[in-house]
This record gives sequence, C-alpha cells and structure tokens, in this order.
Amino acid sequence: MPESPFFAAVEARRTVRDFLPDPVPREVLDRALDAARLAPSSSNLQPWEFVIIRDPMVRQAANAACLNQIPAKTAPLLIALITHRDTWRRNRDEILRTFASRGPLRPSQASYYKRIIPTIYTVGPFGVLGPVKRVFSRVVSLFKPMPNLMAREDVRIMAHKSTALAAATFMLAMRAEGYDTCPMEGFDPWRAKALLGLPRGAEVNMFLAVGKRSDKGVWWDRVLMPREWAVREI
Ligand SMILES: Cc1cc2nc3c(=O)[nH]c(=O)nc-3n(C[C@H](O)[C@H](O)[C@H](O)COP(=O)(O)O)c2cc1C
Repeated sequence: MPESPFFAAVEARRTVRDFLPDPVPREVLDRALDAARLAPSSSNLQPWEFVIIRDPMVRQAANAACLNQIPAKTAPLLIALITHRDTWRRNRDEILRTFASRGPLRPSQASYYKRIIPTIYTVGPFGVLGPVKRVFSRVVSLFKPMPNLMAREDVRIMAHKSTALAAATFMLAMRAEGYDTCPMEGFDPWRAKALLGLPRGAEVNMFLAVGKRSDKGVWWDRVLMPREWAVREI
C-alpha cells in the first residue's frame, strides 16, 4: 500500500530552528492557513487569528519579543498566532447567521448556540460570575454529570486548546507542502501583546517561524517517551 501523504507529513515534520532565506510562496501559505481554519475548535467557535508579520519594523520587534531565538531570526516568515477568549459571542452570532442563511434554524442549533453556549461562557464584567459558576457546577456534579460552567480562566484555556489545534494543522499542512515550521512559546508575552496591539481578551498563543529548513535546521534526533507513558487502555 502506498504510504499515506498524511503520515508522511506527520513523520517528516520536525521543529526547524535554522531556515534558508527562500520566501514562502503566497499560495503555499494560503493553502496551509485554509487547512488550519478547518481545525476542530470548542463549539466550533474558532478563537484563533493568524497574524502574518510583513512589516520589517514589526518583524524586528517580534524577533526581539521571541527573545531573538535563531528560528525567529532566520525564518523568511514569522506568524503570531493569537487566541481570543472574548470573540465567542461574535463567532456564535456568525454561526447562527450562517445556519439561518441555509434554512430554518433547527431546534438543536437554536438551543445550543442561544442558550447553552452563553450559559457556559458568560463570565460577567471582570469575570465576577466565574467563581459562582464554578462552585455551582462543582456542587451539581456531586449529584449528576454537569458541564463546567466556565470561569474566565476556563474560557482562556478553552481558547488556547482550540488555537493550538489550528497551529498543529498549520504545521502539518506546511510540511505537506514541503515547508517547515518552528512553534515558539519562548517569547515575552507582554511585549508581544503590546507590539501587536492586542485587546484585553487576546493573547499570543505561540509564534510560528516558517520557511524551508537549512542543512542545520534540525538540531537534535527525535526523542519519544515510552509508548506506555503516552497511551493507556482502561
Ligand atoms: C507549544 C510549543 C512551544 C514551543 N516553543 C519552542 C520555542 O520557544 N523554541 C524552540 O526552539 N522550540 C520550541 N518548541 C519546539 C519543541 O521543542 C519541539 O516540538 C520538541 O522538542 C519536539 O521536537 P520536534 O517538534 O522536532 O518533534 C515548542 C513546541 C511547542 C509545541
């Protein structure tokens, strides 16, 4: 059986820390971004934003915010992947609008997006409702299964989880196109946020250096934890 292109991309993807200067073609980048937009997200709320840094001054400051890591300095392209914990209402409205444009709203769609989602995600001004919601859901959970009615920090985690899935999809798509990436969590979050002019409910999830690997791009051989640490059946 021919090797599936999916597994070939998964196996060939490595964190690349030194890049050739060759630019990333627009159509390659667009295909990978559009693949990333298909990533699963909590309640399909897609809390991500890929900021493609083109401005040389911003790029220089972004490299510095990335602590001048070699991948940031050598990559022909740097992307700031933003996670938004406050866009759920806007995106929920877009989902409802899209459903409605396709025909009558189904009762399950209306109840999920009009009732359940606001109950789970609303945290009130400055997150004041959060602790009450958490205590309430913890107490109810003693008696019956109960979703976590989220506090602000839970919404933040939800947004980061989904955004990281978009990052993974993007990196694999890039690899499938013959390009490489370096995800970077090693950056100054305050400087990055100020540099990109992010609103209060937004944060950089990670930076992504993108390009073609140089011959010293992969620094170390792959190390995998024993399978039984990673996989367990019960
Ligand atoms: C969320 C996240 C943050 C990371 N941050 C950095 C980073 O700041 N700098 C870096 O060189 N590598 C970073 N890495 C890359 C990891 O070190 C790398 O994925 C790991 O060593 C496994 O190597 P591989 O990706 O080549 O399989 C990060 C990876 C992830 C998923």
